Amino acid sequence: MIKIAIDGPSGSGKSTLARSLAKRYGYVYVDTGALYRTVGLYMLQCGVDIKSSVSVAENLKNISVELKYDENGMQHVLLNGADVGESIRTSEISAAASAVSAIPEVRAFLLDTQRKMAENNNVVMDGRDIGTVIFPDAQVKIFLTAGNLARAERRHKELTEKGENITLEKVLSDMESRDKSDRSRKEAPAIPAQDAVILDNSGFEPEDTLRAACDIINKKLGI
Ligand code: DC
Repeated sequence: MIKIAIDGPSGSGKSTLARSLAKRYGYVYVDTGALYRTVGLYMLQCGVDIKSSVSVAENLKNISVELKYDENGMQHVLLNGADVGESIRTSEISAAASAVSAIPEVRAFLLDTQRKMAENNNVVMDGRDIGTVIFPDAQVKIFLTAGNLARAERRHKELTEKGENITLEKVLSDMESRDKSDRSRKEAPAIPAQDAVILDNSGFEPEDTLRAACDIINKKLGI
C-alpha cells in the first residue's frame, strides 16, 4: 500500500493539501489531528485535568475512538459511537489536543487506529509524527511549513469564518506556544523525518502547494 505522510505545524495547510492529494491520487485522506482533538474533547467534557497525565491516561479506558468515511470520502470521528462533527474545531480544543498529545499513553492509544487505515488502503495521512513514528516506511514524506505570521493568518481566517471571536494576536501567541510544546515534547516530537522533503509554502496559494507536492510525489513514486 502507498503511504504519503504530510507532517508539519498548525496552519501550514496540511489538511487542505492532504485532502486535495487524496482526491487527485484516489487515496484515503486521514486527518490524525482529529483523533487527538477528540481525546481532548472527551477529557474537557468530563472535567478531567488535562495537565495530569495520570488522570488522562486513566480515563482512556472509558473511550473508543473510531474513524468512519461517508460516501463522499469525508472522514468522521466517532467518540463512543457518536460523531464529534465540528465540535473539535475550536481553539479551546486545539489547546486540549496539544496537551493530551504529549502524553505517551494517548499516543499509544491512537497508534493502531492510524496504522490500520493503511492496511487495505493507499493513504494520505496528515499529522505531526506520520513520517517519524506511524509510518517510518512511508514512500513519500513531506514536511509542510510556513512562516509564523502566515500560518496564524490562515488559522485566524478559518476560526473567524466559523464565528469564533478571536484576535490575530491571540491566534499567533496560542499557535506559537502550541508549536513549541509539540516540537519539544519527549514522545514523538513534531519534527521532520530525516528523509522528509521540507516544503515551505509561505506566500503560496493552495494550488501552488498542491503543484509542488505533486512534483515531489510523482518523482518519489516514479509516475
Ligand atoms: O493538526 P491539528 O491542529 O488538528 O492537531 C491538533 C494537535 O494534535 C496538535 O497540537 C498536535 C497534536 N497532533 C499530534 O501530536 N500528532 C499528530 N499526528 C496529529 C496531531
